[in-house]
Amino acid sequence: MAFFSGGRSDFFGLDIGTFGLRAVQLKGPGPIKTLDRYGEITLDSTVGTGYDVVDKQGFTQALQRLVKQTGITAKNVAVNIPSQRVFTTIIDLPKMLPAELDKTIHYQAGSYIPTPPDKSKVDFAVIGNSPQAGKVEVLITSAPNDFIESRLALVEAAGLNVIAMEPDNMALARAIVAADATLPQLVLDVGSVSADLIISFGGTPHLVRAIPTGMQNIARAASQNLGVDARQAQQYVLKFGLGKDKLEGRVYAAIIGVIDGLAGEIEKSIKFFAERYGNTKLDRIIVTGGASTLPELPLYIANKFGINVEIGNAWRNVNVPPPQQNQTMVVSSHFAVAVGLAGRME
Ligand SMILES: Nc1ncnc2c1ncn2[C@@H]1O[C@H](COP(=O)(O)OP(=O)(O)OP(=O)(O)O)[C@@H](O)[C@H]1O
Ligand SMILES: [Mg+2]
Repeated sequence: MAFFSGGRSDFFGLDIGTFGLRAVQLKGPGPIKTLDRYGEITLDSTVGTGYDVVDKQGFTQALQRLVKQTGITAKNVAVNIPSQRVFTTIIDLPKMLPAELDKTIHYQAGSYIPTPPDKSKVDFAVIGNSPQAGKVEVLITSAPNDFIESRLALVEAAGLNVIAMEPDNMALARAIVAADATLPQLVLDVGSVSADLIISFGGTPHLVRAIPTGMQNIARAASQNLGVDARQAQQYVLKFGLGKDKLEGRVYAAIIGVIDGLAGEIEKSIKFFAERYGNTKLDRIIVTGGASTLPELPLYIANKFGINVEIGNAWRNVNVPPPQQNQTMVVSSHFAVAVGLAGRME
């Protein structure tokens, strides 16, 4: 599922996030590739967000610095499309030949997507048989043309050639879910401004959602409720998290409203999934994203849903040479999207 298809192997994955840019290049043939080069650079908050870059020059300079610093020489790049700019839906369609399916979806696109089809890039993939007899499940993705074009221009301004653009959630699933996982797993990536939620089984996501919760609104709640500035609020949040016994439970009390909002969205997704797929129980919840490192968040989610929670490993489907293993684990929580993009097979 991507908007371009390059068929190149000399490329790297680039995650344009709100907190920073991350680049990953893999090497070698076959499904399990070896890490070649990787790196990250934080973005000044004046640059904007991952989905709305306002300081284009500052962005280009940061991207060029990142490429230089990692030693990546490939000019081809696979770039993420942030959740805030992608619409994803899963629909059931009668079984038909691929050419017919293509025609049907493009003809009916207006009824599936929220933006005008002639102003949007629309893509789809058949993900398997539908729970409804005789039908298939089709994942439809769309993004506004003007966003795609502005992102292309942004990356090309740094002297790079965009060969693919892929939604965060697809890249995330490729990196975080074990390649041979058959039981349904929920993946939650909590970033700076948004959280991506995926329920994946049989090698494909079957439920995809974006939730507008991330470190920025968690820290804002802490800042307002504790009366401290944004930077200090974030430090408190990252240090004490949901520990009820820390700082007399004041940080917990300040942020629990936002966390419960997120948990409510997770609950809705789990319910929707259970209703649609009958008896299939979730095997586990895997958390990742910079904000998922908040102390006691995994435990809180595990207790709330009675499901095992695992800390995601962005590199699980990649062979990491021993000298790089320690450092890659340190940054694992914010690399899943970049690793997933680097692992695209076309
Ligand atoms: N290099 C880093 N050093 C320290 N903390 C980091 C780093 N990268 C991310 N974080 C932490 O992770 C949080 C952001 O999460 P993440 O990096 O997953 O978001 P993002 O991908 O940049 O944002 P989004 O996907 O919402 O645009 C930051 O607020 C910070 O606490
Ligand atoms: Mg992100």
